[in-house]
Amino acid sequence: MPLPYVLLSAAVSLDGYLDDTGPERLLLSGPADFERVDEVRAGVDAILVGAGTIRADDPRLLVRSAERRAARVARGWAEYPLKVTVSGSGELDPGAAFWHTGGEKVLLTTDAGAARARALGIGAEVVALGDAIEWRAALEHLHDRRGVRRLMVEGGGTVHTQLLRQGLADELQLVLAPLLVGDPGAPRLFGPGGYQRGRLRLVETRRIEDVVLTRYLPTAPGTDGEVSAADRHWLALACELAELCPPSGTAFSVGAVVVAADGTELARGHSREGGDAVVHAEEAALAKIDPADPRLAAATVYSSLEPCARRASRPAPCARLILDAGVRRVVTAWREPDTFVTDADGSGLLRAAGTEVLVLPAYEARAKAPNRHLLG
Ligand SMILES: NC(=O)c1ccc[n+]([C@@H]2O[C@H](COP(=O)([O-])OP(=O)(O)OC[C@H]3O[C@@H](n4cnc5c(N)ncnc54)[C@H](OP(=O)(O)O)[C@@H]3O)[C@@H](O)[C@H]2O)c1
Repeated sequence: MPLPYVLLSAAVSLDGYLDDTGPERLLLSGPADFERVDEVRAGVDAILVGAGTIRADDPRLLVRSAERRAARVARGWAEYPLKVTVSGSGELDPGAAFWHTGGEKVLLTTDAGAARARALGIGAEVVALGDAIEWRAALEHLHDRRGVRRLMVEGGGTVHTQLLRQGLADELQLVLAPLLVGDPGAPRLFGPGGYQRGRLRLVETRRIEDVVLTRYLPTAPGTDGEVSAADRHWLALACELAELCPPSGTAFSVGAVVVAADGTELARGHSREGGDAVVHAEEAALAKIDPADPRLAAATVYSSLEPCARRASRPAPCARLILDAGVRRVVTAWREPDTFVTDADGSGLLRAAGTEVLVLPAYEARAKAPNRHLLG
């Protein structure tokens, strides 16, 4: 199911705290960074905070710049992003500024929380999601029912921790403030638990007055049949690699990336790379990895087109090469059409051998783009 692009945004102290334990909200960044945040807010469909943040800070979460609001309206968007909060208990103050400023509001809650919130007279659309709140279901609701394509999450730590741990965060925007809190009772940005084991990808650092903005993308493939935000990033990269293929009237242009379970890129490839007129993308990528590499068993192959099941140009099709490499997870954007091979079913061949194959149709148009001339 398609989900919104989820951007986690927070400011933290040097020792990883979001706030102190004093009655006033701790100001971690300054005017120039607030201006940046205003710009980011103006570019999203919705802003979400946890109920704990409403209780502690009661943020208004507005786009303050009149020009930015006017630009939203000119684009046909709502003047303000939708404001969303999440509460299991529904125990919220109906007088909080959160409900009485900006545009539309949504409370995502449990069945019991919905009853409590309605009894309290909370001024928002109250959405009951069952006995407990599953983040994937909550995000699907925002995507499907409210048209949210880009979601900014502004805390607090409980919400950030869950979204990152569950592989649902597409991007982290962290502002590091030059101060120390040193109070173990204060809220931390990320709590303990099972995060991805490897490194996130640093994509930007920017000095803003005396704070530093850092932007990271998670890299770990999904597990347990789930698609992670990183899966989408890697598949997008495979689609970009397909654009690098030397053109051909007799073969598809495909990109592929092989990624270890901890998010380390093991290899990448594309069709006809390196002057080899018949090499396929998955074949090119796998050939760059030592077959004895123990990371292959838990790796994922991302391929813009499903791996081939039959081919005339080489003895083994890519589905077989993937199985022989010991890879048991494949993510692809597009099932092979009958253009060159009738009823090619690389996904079926892989699945029959116990490999998980996930097809993400949201990337099909990008995978097809360099193959337009072959598709009629
Ligand atoms: N520096 C920054 O950038 C920044 C940004 C935001 C917040 N903060 C700080 O962060 C602190 C608040 O963080 P926090 O971790 O205490 O709270 P939080 O993450 O804002 O909200 C936690 C609450 O959200 C609800 N919730 C979250 N996940 C849920 C789930 N899966 N199912 C059901 N309910 C769920 C629960 O509400 P119920 O209890 O109602 O069930 C939970 O108590 C404040 O001190 C605030 O100042 C700092």
